[in-house]
Amino acid sequence: MLSENMQAALNKQIRIEAESSQIYLAMASYAERKGLEGVSQFMYDASDEERQHLLKMFKYVNERGGFAKVSELSQPALEFGSIKEMFETLFKHEVFVSKSINELVHISLEEKDYATHNFLQWYVAEQIEEEAQARTILDKINLIGDDKGGLYLFDNDIKQLNVVSSVAPGV
Ligand code: FEO
Repeated sequence: MLSENMQAALNKQIRIEAESSQIYLAMASYAERKGLEGVSQFMYDASDEERQHLLKMFKYVNERGGFAKVSELSQPALEFGSIKEMFETLFKHEVFVSKSINELVHISLEEKDYATHNFLQWYVAEQIEEEAQARTILDKINLIGDDKGGLYLFDNDIKQLNVVSSVAPGV
């Protein structure tokens, strides 16, 4: 059985995962409107993946006798100054998500809730991959700079980059 405290913390994270999905959906729209088909597909996939993160945690809360809550969501940014700025925002957001997951792990240890601690390890590993992928993309974008041809090639390149583990196991 989840403690009230653990349940509230997990529900807060469920909201963050839902908002991540919205943020990336807005980024997909931005890239699509810029004519960057590869980047937009990457962001649509990233948005779907966040939905899987949400569902995995949502089902876990109910499975442990808790109450998985659907919350209101904040309006994400709809416009970005550039694709570079968009990916910088993405990277910062993933760093924020990692901190939030770490906080959950901390609470699970405080509560001696080892089942939740074990459950969260999947998210810990996922965040390492997501941050690494965002960093790789940013490195490439920084290499391109303002070169339009480079951006065109990058848009093709990113089609090969599958979003990290697009389906969360156990969903
Ligand atoms: Fe669900 Fe990208 O963190």
